[in-house]
Amino acid sequence: MNWKRVCAASDVPENTLKRFDIDGIAIVIANYGAGFQGFPPYCPHMEEPLADSGMLDGGILTCSKHLWQWDLRTGEKVGLAEKPLLCYDIKTEGDDVMADLEIELINEYDVEDDMDDDDFFGSD
Ligand code: FES
Repeated sequence: MNWKRVCAASDVPENTLKRFDIDGIAIVIANYGAGFQGFPPYCPHMEEPLADSGMLDGGILTCSKHLWQWDLRTGEKVGLAEKPLLCYDIKTEGDDVMADLEIELINEYDVEDDMDDDDFFGSD
């Protein structure tokens, strides 16, 4: 374990997410109301930056690019998601949000997964 302070709890209002860079590791902290979750900054599908494209409501994180979803309360995939969201161990100490950054979590991407918006939404 290598617990690091990422931010103050008040830095990330409820139902929002924000990216931080701590000792060279990029991490997104999400406040889902009942707690905080922390994960790498890019969507495990096609590297969309989740701090910009992620939408959070009722504990469900949705990547707005192709609508993959994860339940931040359990870390489980929801709906269309085909890959898990890699999550850091997170805890709060007073007003501080802490993450175990001993190992940087890195998504693996399929090289043949080159679906673009036209493939997903149709092109007519
Ligand atoms: S890039 Fe996030 S769902 Fe496709």
